[in-house]
Amino acid sequence: MTGDRRPLSLGDQREAALEHAARIVARAWREFDEARDVETLPSAAMVDLLEEPLPEHGTDVIAGLDLAADVLDASLAQSRPRYLAYIGSSGLEVGALADLLAHSYDINLALDARGATLLEKQTIAWLADFLGFPAGAGSFTSGGTISNITALAAARERALPGSRSAGMGGHRVSLFCSAEAHYSVMRAAELLGIGKDNVRPVPIDDRRRMRPDRLADLIEADVAAGVTPIAVVATAGTTLTGAVDPIAEIAIACRQRAVWLHVDGAYGLPAAAAASTAPLFTGLDQVDSVSVDAHKWMFVPKACSALLVRNKADLATAFSHNEAYIPHEDDELNAVDVTLEYSRPLRALKLWLALRVHGAPAFRDAIEGNVQQARLMYDLARDHPRFEVRLHEPQLSITPIRHVLPGCTDHDAHNEALCRAMQHDGRVYISPAIIDGHTWLRPCFTNFRTTQEDVRVTLAVADEIGQAVCGGH
Ligand SMILES: Cc1ncc(COP(=O)(O)O)c(C=O)c1O
Repeated sequence: MTGDRRPLSLGDQREAALEHAARIVARAWREFDEARDVETLPSAAMVDLLEEPLPEHGTDVIAGLDLAADVLDASLAQSRPRYLAYIGSSGLEVGALADLLAHSYDINLALDARGATLLEKQTIAWLADFLGFPAGAGSFTSGGTISNITALAAARERALPGSRSAGMGGHRVSLFCSAEAHYSVMRAAELLGIGKDNVRPVPIDDRRRMRPDRLADLIEADVAAGVTPIAVVATAGTTLTGAVDPIAEIAIACRQRAVWLHVDGAYGLPAAAAASTAPLFTGLDQVDSVSVDAHKWMFVPKACSALLVRNKADLATAFSHNEAYIPHEDDELNAVDVTLEYSRPLRALKLWLALRVHGAPAFRDAIEGNVQQARLMYDLARDHPRFEVRLHEPQLSITPIRHVLPGCTDHDAHNEALCRAMQHDGRVYISPAIIDGHTWLRPCFTNFRTTQEDVRVTLAVADEIGQAVCGGH
């Protein structure tokens, strides 16, 4: 009988497999301590392997683990200390261990899971405490995109009660965010029936922050025209430059007009806990909801985002429901009554274990360290004869820099070519950004392994490669 053969068991190789996996992980962690000078690229043999058809015969598990490790080694790993592209993460070691535990137990948080449900609630409370937001409830999600959509679904129901059932009918609606908000806000507008064209891009100031005066004017104009504002999304750390919108002033504009205020802090919100950046987040205690990605600047592996709301009832009003396959016990809400997703893994465990093991001060220090690295990059580039910087210092941990060579006629083409050449060189992985129509290099520091020496090396490598690629433009 197949049931008795346990065709998917590792049998007596189970412990050997676990020990082998542990050796692979330990080797990777040692390698992540220091940046490597060359990248391992997929070999021709690996490309062939990755085009093989569905296996009809199994492979020895030790050999299989080695193949998996080879593929990972030839991949772009954000855990490496000189991965400075986009918004990286770190694969925090204790977080990776927590993932192994969580995935082994494979708990489902769609319904009450006893201990794990209590742990998720405690982690939400710790996170709220860490950030300084008075959360009444929250849940872990798969990313900032889903956290933002979840918050805006709740905002829509508050602005137009009953719209989750009846739709928005003939109501004209709008959503407000800075001109530099993340696309996930537009995506939410698309999915929630608000419509991307009804997202009002609020003008920004010279530090690239939303202008509250212009926001107030735009809301007033919509209300006067019979349009219902669904929400304002303030960004606490824009993806492009790390600008933090002035939350306290925006909160006043929203309170006066009874409009939901959501803070998209997917990237930047953890900096509310670091001494030198905390003042930028004044007013956070006044908002309705916040998103934060622990898989970005709280260093744990993907995917671990959280949505926190001031009032639990707002989530319940938007999401609670009765289905025969998930009955309610007494008046208790199920987890699926306060969030968008059904089956949910125990994402909270990695943050819970990391906070338990390292303590909150270690996180504040690591975030502050990244902020200092961004400022060091700014100072070094500003004082360098062949780099230019933005007019204002970085607000968080993104420092756009530009290589400027006297003989070079097209600096945009030059910086674009430089960035691509750095990506091929392998010592530093960096991404470009277009700011006001011009191409910049955009190092972003969100890795606890990155050091100030990595900042110096990054600038030196950029200058060396920049001089070498200069010829074409
Ligand atoms: C400000 C901001 N919001 C939302 C997101 C989307 O987050 P995720 O990629 O986790 O869905 C990002 C991603 O970089 C971001 O920077």
